[in-house]
Amino acid sequence: MPDSQQQMLQMSGEFQRMVDEFFEVQCRYQAAIRQVRTRLEILDDEYRFRHEANPIHSIQSRMKTIQSMMDKLRRRGQQLSVRSAVENLYDIAGMRVICSYIEDIYTVADALTSQNDIRVIRVRDYIKSPKPNGYRSLHLVLEVPVFLTEGRVTVPVEVQIRTIAMDFWATLEHDLRYKVPVGVPQEISDELQQTAQDITRLDERMQRIHDRVDALIRAQEHRPD
Ligand code: GTP
Ligand code: MG
Repeated sequence: MPDSQQQMLQMSGEFQRMVDEFFEVQCRYQAAIRQVRTRLEILDDEYRFRHEANPIHSIQSRMKTIQSMMDKLRRRGQQLSVRSAVENLYDIAGMRVICSYIEDIYTVADALTSQNDIRVIRVRDYIKSPKPNGYRSLHLVLEVPVFLTEGRVTVPVEVQIRTIAMDFWATLEHDLRYKVPVGVPQEISDELQQTAQDITRLDERMQRIHDRVDALIRAQEHRPD
């Protein structure tokens, strides 16, 4: 067999092994996402029962594709294997929790991170310290337990928590960054930066109005008939 053909076969064998390994770990990461989603839904239900309001507007989740894992490892100069992805990447399982109000973000984050079988690996608060481009969100990396036939394993999940307005902004900014091949013109970056500030003010105003409405509702509830 010519060398090049043998090389091809060897490569496809390695690729196949990688794909098999990927499917094995995928199962754990999907289980971890389900764990976190269920816990979030329980918290949301319970909060609604107590306060007649939902802190969570919606939840999205995704598993990183094998292609995107390898791209990220390559960018970082790390070994290209599923094992390396598991060891080096925190965002193989990614979740996004969208809240209506800024305070809800911290309510959800505190309730989740205080669960005693969840370990907080990393917190990045881009709401208190926004990125230079204006990006805001609270990022948590959590290690959550998953019970398999072999026993308990822990799996990292990246949870991004943001308001509807922050999400609106981040989606547009993401599209610009990744879908415009020629690069983003400065004037558009500048305008987006400005919009991020407008959104911060909007989020803060909405929170203040919400607090006032809440106070009115509570006052009414305590009024004797
Ligand atoms: P990667 O950016 O994934 O390599 O990880 P990191 O270690 O730099 O973590 P970081 O917390 O900065 O960001 C992780 C994720 O948050 C990204 O994959 C995006 O989903 C989101 N994110 C971070 N910064 C931005 C941003 O400036 N704009 C948008 N739209 N999303 C961002
Ligand atoms: Mg980054």
